[in-house]
Amino acid sequence: MKRQNGYSLRQRLLIRLGTPLFIVLTIGGVATFALARHIGVVVYDRWLYDSAMTLAQQVKVQNKQLALNLSTTAMEMFEWDSVDRIYEEVVSRKNGRIFGNAVLPAPPQDMAFSAPQYYDSVVNGRHVRVVAVMVPSPADSGDAIYIQVAETESKRDSLIIETLTLAMPLQLGLLLIVTIFIWLAVTSSLRMVDDIAVRLEGYEPEGLAPLDNVEDMPSEVKPLVKALNQLIGKLSDSQNTQRRFVANAAHQLRTPLATLQVQTERALREPNPTMHLEALSQVFGAVTRLRHVVHQLLTLARSDTMERSDEQALKMVRVDLSKLVRDELERWADAAISHSIDLGYDGPEKVIEIDGEPYLLRELIGNLVDNAIRYGRTGGEVTLGLTTMPVTLFVDDNGPGIPAEERTLVLERFYRRSDAGGDGCGLGLAICREIAMRHGARLTIGDNSHSCGTRVTVIFPDN
Ligand SMILES: Nc1ncnc2c1ncn2[C@@H]1O[C@H](COP(=O)(O)OP(=O)(O)OP(=O)(O)O)[C@@H](O)[C@H]1O
Ligand SMILES: [Mg+2]
Repeated sequence: MKRQNGYSLRQRLLIRLGTPLFIVLTIGGVATFALARHIGVVVYDRWLYDSAMTLAQQVKVQNKQLALNLSTTAMEMFEWDSVDRIYEEVVSRKNGRIFGNAVLPAPPQDMAFSAPQYYDSVVNGRHVRVVAVMVPSPADSGDAIYIQVAETESKRDSLIIETLTLAMPLQLGLLLIVTIFIWLAVTSSLRMVDDIAVRLEGYEPEGLAPLDNVEDMPSEVKPLVKALNQLIGKLSDSQNTQRRFVANAAHQLRTPLATLQVQTERALREPNPTMHLEALSQVFGAVTRLRHVVHQLLTLARSDTMERSDEQALKMVRVDLSKLVRDELERWADAAISHSIDLGYDGPEKVIEIDGEPYLLRELIGNLVDNAIRYGRTGGEVTLGLTTMPVTLFVDDNGPGIPAEERTLVLERFYRRSDAGGDGCGLGLAICREIAMRHGARLTIGDNSHSCGTRVTVIFPDN
């Protein structure tokens, strides 16, 4: 079923509660009407039957003939009615008509003693209700007397109209009262939602705080508010992380920029060629550092899983990880030599394909090898390895290692260990983690099983 784009909950509840209520009241109205009609029929039919039996009592034998023993006055009294017209006919089966003021239609079925028949018919162009009874003849035991009494239906019709005129306003009034109650109940129940909306409207982006008094809220609204509070919490966390990141990034950029300014000024003023060269070398150091920080920041921005859009996610291609790793080894060979480190490869030469972004995978390997060379032991060994099933990349060094309690912390942005030398900015492992996550891989830091030192492992998903 197609969902309406925007709708009023209040209106929907009113319609959904009001419609069945209307149906119930209508059924109630119809039932009342049917009941009133049935009672009317029973009561008036009884009266008709009594009238017929009164006539039956008066069929007597007079001068050896059957006749109705009623005076004209008594007959007038019998036929008198303020609203309806009464017709009667008394017939002997053997001797024919005894009395009557109209010819009444025969009953629909054969008559039997003590089994009156009631039926609707038309007499003199008017709708009538008829009762027909059969009694034994007082003169001849083989004969039977048929008595029919008919009555026009004005009394019955007006009973129905009266019932309807009384019941209809009653039902409508009831519907109105219940609708008002539903409206009030719905409005007061939904006020809670309005309150929440007002509180949320008042929020400033800097002051995100969860909605309080959740336990006092109705149980239907509670899950929504709890989910909203979770979202607010996540937003607030992400805001704090962003703020910390910007502050750290600014700090990381400010230091080399300040050095750059001071040393450039110094170089410009310095007449002594040796000092001039020294100042220029400081400038070079600051620029190198600045370039590294900017590069790391840009790589982080590019690999950040939070920043990923579906369009970017589609840039994944089939990558031969084995070739990529061996290419990186070549790229880092000079850096390893300058640290007197033996940089080697431990893995198959065959093609090992995964879905990935080659640029980011190079950054991942580069950062891990850079760390291993930088923080490993001078004159030590660094091994870049690959295994399959599942595809796993690892970087081993035999340096001092990372204490277990700091292995989660070093993955945080800008975290550097207190004894970390050099001019890193603490983003390398954070970048590696983001890149791994982006590839659906899991990065862990452990011990190098062959010697002291670190092993960083990246396990890629099967594909
Ligand atoms: N192989 C390792 N052995 C010992 N300590 C390590 C190793 N790799 C990382 N560390 C520690 O973890 C810290 C964080 O590493 P990370 O690569 O994130 O930052 P960085 O190397 O200081 O800076 P960047 O990589 O951004 O230039 C480092 O400062 C270092 O103290
Ligand atoms: Mg690093």
